[in-house]
Amino acid sequence: MDILEKLRAETRGEHDKLEAIGLSDKIMDKTLSLEEYKKLIRVHFMVHQALEEQLEANGVEELFPALDYEQRRKMPLLEQDIGELGIAREPLSRQEPAGQLPQLNKPFGLLGCMYVLEGATLGGMVIVKALKKNEHLSSLENFHYFGCYGGETGPQWKRFLEVLKDEGAHSEAQEPIVEAARQTYQYFGANFKKFL
Ligand code: HEM
Repeated sequence: MDILEKLRAETRGEHDKLEAIGLSDKIMDKTLSLEEYKKLIRVHFMVHQALEEQLEANGVEELFPALDYEQRRKMPLLEQDIGELGIAREPLSRQEPAGQLPQLNKPFGLLGCMYVLEGATLGGMVIVKALKKNEHLSSLENFHYFGCYGGETGPQWKRFLEVLKDEGAHSEAQEPIVEAARQTYQYFGANFKKFL
């Protein structure tokens, strides 16, 4: 089984759990309120802040230059959303995230975490369409985080998969990649549960 098939098979249940607690029904049927959208952005901000810090501290850029990590960071997008939604920064940066940060063991754990963060942009394409049609959100012009790479989502995902598959071809890589992906999903889950 290649690494992508293995990741899909072993973490599908985690994705489904996250969807179930992540307001996805309301997102998709366009009943999500502005307050709920703000909560969603807040929780993504908290989780991405912690995870990107961890990825960077563990040297993701140096270990995987082909990823072009800098332009995959989601924090600049979340900062823009926070600004445009008028969410106060101060209490947000003092809020402690819930759950256990994933153990991103070098080098392969970093890729497992990146798989979850990058894969979310695929779901984002579906989500952003629904958000744009939601009349409770009609005052908003931009959905920076959920819109993410826009028309570049497909090519960005393909380039990520090239790196993932090259690295995941080593048999010793598979288990740490899958384990870090699982822990990353669970970290999102703990924070969705607490803050949504
Ligand atoms: C409302 C919530 C969500 C919905 C409706 C949703 C929907 C989707 C959809 C439709 C895909 C498949 C895209 C495709 O195959 O072309 C997908 C893939 C994926 N999503 Fe989600 N998603 C949601 C939340 C999340 C969250 C919060 C995360 C992680 C933080 C996430 C991580 C992923 C990953 C890693 C994949 C890639 C799976 C793969 O192809 O290997 N999703 N999602």
